[in-house]
Amino acid sequence: MKHLIDINDLSTQEIDEMIAVAGDIIEHPEKYCEKCKNKKLATLFYEPSTRTRLSFEAAMYELGGNVLGFSEATSSSVAKGESVSDTVRTVGAYADIIAMRHPKEGAPVAAIRRATVPLINAGDGGHNHPTQTLTDLLTISREKGRLDNMTVGLCGDLKFGRTVHSLINAMSRYEGIKFVLIAPDELRIPDYVREEVLEKNGIEYVETTDLEGSMPQLDILYMTRVQRERFFNEEDYMRLKDSYILTPDKLENAKEDLSILHPLPRVNEISVAVDDDPRAAYFRQVEYGKYIRMALILKLLEVK
Ligand code: CP
Repeated sequence: MKHLIDINDLSTQEIDEMIAVAGDIIEHPEKYCEKCKNKKLATLFYEPSTRTRLSFEAAMYELGGNVLGFSEATSSSVAKGESVSDTVRTVGAYADIIAMRHPKEGAPVAAIRRATVPLINAGDGGHNHPTQTLTDLLTISREKGRLDNMTVGLCGDLKFGRTVHSLINAMSRYEGIKFVLIAPDELRIPDYVREEVLEKNGIEYVETTDLEGSMPQLDILYMTRVQRERFFNEEDYMRLKDSYILTPDKLENAKEDLSILHPLPRVNEISVAVDDDPRAAYFRQVEYGKYIRMALILKLLEVK
């Protein structure tokens, strides 16, 4: 039985295969509409979500399966003090596969010790969000036609942004990737990402605070939200929250074929005036999230 806790649980070959399956689902959805008939997905969300939970649910419905679960811990026996491990073991009696989001880092690792069905980490605190990374990879692959030989700018909260850490990790596996890491000093990428992923693998990168100066070289611009929920004090959040706001004038020197991604939700970091720019890919990214989750469900349920 295979779980997905961290993007490192997947080989590059497995990621490439899922991207290919997602592409086939996009082209031929009718081939897949009964693949999970009589299968059930449980969504256990202990933390708020719009895209991840609903795209998992839409994915399972489009595969012909069914969905059960909860969208807030207070409506389950978690409110009575039940452990994550007991909840996951119980839900395994009702569902064939589980997608779980939890605010505590490491909760999915504790949960799989007693899991009887495949478990997908749908985000654990500031730690991992592997299905967002798969979504990002599918989006880049569809927008650019490749996953190698490009300059990827990551901008905003690079310290707490779990999607950024996983994306750096995943993109570093492909040839010719250069990163431009754009963040205020307080929100630079953690040392372990710099040392254990970038430097260890000899990946080219620069760290800067300058978004506009970096713009001309970027093939991908991945904007992120400064996450209020990860800050220990409100004063720091208020000081840093509007560090970068992408507006149309800041794109004047950008490449014609730049792709702008954002895991969403956004607050202020991308002006709505950018939404109509054809380079704004973040709502297409939302849709790709459903297709890659369909491919992932098929893989973990071993449906051919
Ligand atoms: N990108 C993402 O994880 O969005 P949600 O928090 O809405 O699921």
